Amino acid sequence: MEEQYRPDTESGDRDTNVGRRTLITVLLGFSVVATVGGVLTPIIGYLWPPSRASAGGSGRVQVGTAADFPAGQGKVVPVNDKPVIIVNSAQGGLKAFSAICTHLGCIVEWDQGRQFILCPCHDGRFNAVNGGIISGPQPSPLPELALTVEGDAIYVSEA
Ligand code: FES
Repeated sequence: MEEQYRPDTESGDRDTNVGRRTLITVLLGFSVVATVGGVLTPIIGYLWPPSRASAGGSGRVQVGTAADFPAGQGKVVPVNDKPVIIVNSAQGGLKAFSAICTHLGCIVEWDQGRQFILCPCHDGRFNAVNGGIISGPQPSPLPELALTVEGDAIYVSEA
């Protein structure tokens, strides 16, 4: 039997295979780490949001000027990263309430035509004077926040 000449490529193939296997393992490991990091980062950011500057010790925030809230109108503004609805009704004047519906947490809005605070999720209606319930499934009124007018500036403080 004639033996054929075979160059000594087996060890070279083995080295190449080990190199490829290592490269694939590293790439797979990197992709697993990147995937897990991509999933965990927003979850961690949601659970532990970065601290933000507040309005100071009193939590008082200027939400605008009198010109921003003309009579018969209302709008939602941020106060320390929370939605607050400022209304200027004919009966109650300027008032501030939490804009988070007490039913399931939707953001309420001002119903210009009917002059009340409306939760669009389940038609919850709140009184513009005291945040009380007019109708709807909400279990409690909207919490009122302290609103002060100094000169032309309007401030809201968290309770
Ligand atoms: S969330 Fe506002 S009425 Fe349901």
